[in-house]
Amino acid sequence: MAKKPLKSESILKRDSRVISPSYTRSYPLVIERGKGIYIWDVDGKRYLDFTSGIAVANVGHSNPEVVKAIRSQTEKILHNAGTDFYNEPAVALAEKLCEITPGSFSKKVFFANSGTETVECAFKLARWYTKKPRMISFLGAFHGRTFGSMTLSSSKLTHRDHFSPLVPGVDYAPFPYCYRCPLGKKEKCEKEFSCLSYLGTQILKKVVPQDELAGIIVEPIQGEGGYIVPPDGFHKELQKLCREEGCLYIMDEVQTGFARTGKMFASHVFGVEPDIICVSKAIADGLPLGACVAKSEIMSWPRGAHANTFGGNPLACVAGLTVIDYIQREKLYAKAEKLGEFGKKYLKDLMQEHKIIGDVRGKGLMLAAELVKDRKTKKPAFQEVEKIVNTCFKNGLLLLTCGYSTVRFIPPLIIERDEFERGLEIFADTLK
Ligand SMILES: Cc1ncc(COP(=O)(O)O)c(C=O)c1O
Repeated sequence: MAKKPLKSESILKRDSRVISPSYTRSYPLVIERGKGIYIWDVDGKRYLDFTSGIAVANVGHSNPEVVKAIRSQTEKILHNAGTDFYNEPAVALAEKLCEITPGSFSKKVFFANSGTETVECAFKLARWYTKKPRMISFLGAFHGRTFGSMTLSSSKLTHRDHFSPLVPGVDYAPFPYCYRCPLGKKEKCEKEFSCLSYLGTQILKKVVPQDELAGIIVEPIQGEGGYIVPPDGFHKELQKLCREEGCLYIMDEVQTGFARTGKMFASHVFGVEPDIICVSKAIADGLPLGACVAKSEIMSWPRGAHANTFGGNPLACVAGLTVIDYIQREKLYAKAEKLGEFGKKYLKDLMQEHKIIGDVRGKGLMLAAELVKDRKTKKPAFQEVEKIVNTCFKNGLLLLTCGYSTVRFIPPLIIERDEFERGLEIFADTLK
């Protein structure tokens, strides 16, 4: 009997004819629906999702409470622009964000539709407020793909190839990727952070004059760059350096926010209070929304200085309010912290058996294993990582890569321990 053609195959063919080939899909998953920690493809196969749609579905796919809130809002109105009119869900969400982000000072919020736009907002705001032109970001950072945030990013050359000239006025400092120290050190920095010394004694003394520097932007944990966790104390020192230099300390929490790392924001984990925080991804369980949250004194620009059509969309805002309520009520941060410890130990144990795992790192349920061809040379296992992630896909587990050859483990935070363990076992069996 002839095999029934797969629905996904015909969709993939149609996709290749009309969709930009620039997207970064690594395996041919054609999604039909999702519920909680699972995704189903159009041919009915179920997958355990360890990607959360790139750290978006923290409260689970199509969380019923979020769906209900969105449904109820659709009966009222779908769109009214933050630019021209006012709406209560946007005000309520802004109030909530001011309350839950680090720092008890007065804050204001600009709503956007994605991560990159919140970074654009932060970049523009930093220049506007300080009246200074220059910014510093970190090597290996990823802040988005529009011109400003692309310029602030340096995680992969493909993101930049043939797009120059980029935005002028951006310089780059080394980030403490201690597994592959950018300054060639053998030991992990404990107190004196060589990357910050380099920034302080080289870049800020020889390249960027203090009276030209608007701000320094940083991810708490580098995401796309490879799930790179800086040593404890790094962020506090960086915050201190920003205060001494009189520039803004800007935190990109687009990927780390909303309980992913074991606290509501990773800034809480590292004990810092940035002047500006960018959030997006998990904020609305998949509805496009981003928010740039800044000290009120900083976000004091005049009417017309920055605006958009969809920012503060009421559908996305009611989703955002429900997501935050859900995270707080279910204490998902505590769950992420506990399961994260279990997951890290599991992966570290796996490292004993499999030489291909060169490093295991992460905070909360933002975990990663860096795969290498050889532990001594640390040569990235490019082909192997692709093969492993593809095989896991065939075995019913969705994973994503990042950095050189790193696998990330970012399930929805509602996952139970036995389900989490089952996913890790699929990965372990695939390694075998
Ligand atoms: C830390 C960080 N900033 C910004 C972005 C860009 O967000 P978006 O893809 O929504 O524009 C991302 C996306 O992965 C990110 O991880």
